[in-house]
Amino acid sequence: MKLGILSCGPNSYSTRRLVEAAQQRNHTVRVLNTLKFAIDLQQGVPDLYYRQKALSSYDAILPRIGASITYYGTAVVRQCQEMDIFCANTAAGITNSRDKLRSLQILSRHHVGIPRTTFVRDKKDVLPAIERVGGAPVVIKLIEGTQGIGVLLAESTKAAEGIIELLQSQKQNVLIQKFVAESKGKDIRAFVVGDRVVAAMRRVAQGQEFRSNVHRGGVAEAVELSEEYTETAVRAAQILGLRVAGVDMLEGKNGPQIMEVNSSPGLEGIETCTGLDVAGSVIDYIAAQVDFPEIDIRQRLTISKGYGVSEIYIPEGSHFVGVSIAATELAEQDINVLTLYRGSKIIPNPKKERLLEADDKLLCYGKLESMRSMVPAKTRRRRRPEVLDLVTDVPNADTTAE
Ligand SMILES: Nc1ncnc2c1ncn2[C@@H]1O[C@H](COP(=O)(O)OP(=O)(O)O)[C@@H](O)[C@H]1O
Ligand SMILES: [Mg+2]
Repeated sequence: MKLGILSCGPNSYSTRRLVEAAQQRNHTVRVLNTLKFAIDLQQGVPDLYYRQKALSSYDAILPRIGASITYYGTAVVRQCQEMDIFCANTAAGITNSRDKLRSLQILSRHHVGIPRTTFVRDKKDVLPAIERVGGAPVVIKLIEGTQGIGVLLAESTKAAEGIIELLQSQKQNVLIQKFVAESKGKDIRAFVVGDRVVAAMRRVAQGQEFRSNVHRGGVAEAVELSEEYTETAVRAAQILGLRVAGVDMLEGKNGPQIMEVNSSPGLEGIETCTGLDVAGSVIDYIAAQVDFPEIDIRQRLTISKGYGVSEIYIPEGSHFVGVSIAATELAEQDINVLTLYRGSKIIPNPKKERLLEADDKLLCYGKLESMRSMVPAKTRRRRRPEVLDLVTDVPNADTTAE
């Protein structure tokens, strides 16, 4: 294949290793400076120019977009997608991962652990927010920080309030997050490629430091992840729309807690401490996927008038419970079931004989008018039952807003 690596750092360890791995496998590879592209738009012809010349044809693009050029970089990636070039990470995936609030918002409705987090603006909301995440000591984070710089631990509620007020007065958006004390000074980095974790390490902070970032002096050791951690990492990457990702997790007492997902994870630390050929795994994965460029199914499938994608939820007591997909007669109403979601299980192309259960969700494509009646008014508003954390975090009934 012919692979383009989008990067502004051709000499960085990660870029060098990816080039080397591609060459070892007899692929043609070029490092393309993200900022040297021009994006051309014309009816029917999305196009890219590189250093003033029309970009030659590439089979795949591996974006390595630094945090300081997210806007331009994702625009270039989006253009590659529109030109049907396979992109190892999509523009939407990269955008999702760049913002700690946005990524936790997307993850929070799924079955993956995240530390309880709040985002507030009004001064009056600060104190109740701190209390909701478990009170002091509490973690305060800038939304777009990296290398641990924008992360603080406030020892008392008073200190937390002061820090939040100061940061907000400087027009900084901050997250208030539960301090996962049992994971103090440690975190797990899982390197996800496709639907696998190809390498993992634990980073351990030194001395009194609670942040385990390597840039803060953290020391890395290779780890063998349990299935729970592996599955959580892969799911988090997939939910955010990333196929190559560094997933950072805290080791909470109830299992993995996702802190952030990085869309251009570095290779140096993880290859050095695990001795694994992570770059090779990335290249092999891209070579295997290259024939399937990203398709925005929702966009493509809604272009036919009156047709679209919808999710049908099957609540307890629904007449669909215990019935096979064939017997629901969805097909007769021009509705196709694409995927069945059952708890944390995902069943693509479910067989017609499969029996439905309460709480199943069906991702369907079909006539919108027929599907409308399948989405009962009540579940349209609240799709999920309340599930409370058994150990902690049980909110008092009287503090639940209407
Ligand atoms: N809620 C938390 N509880 C305990 N430790 C945390 C928490 N959030 C962050 N940390 C520690 O701080 C480090 C940096 O936080 P992170 O959110 O990853 O920010 P950055 O993007 O700057 O790396 C983490 O690697 C972890 O060691
Ligand atoms: Mg981090």
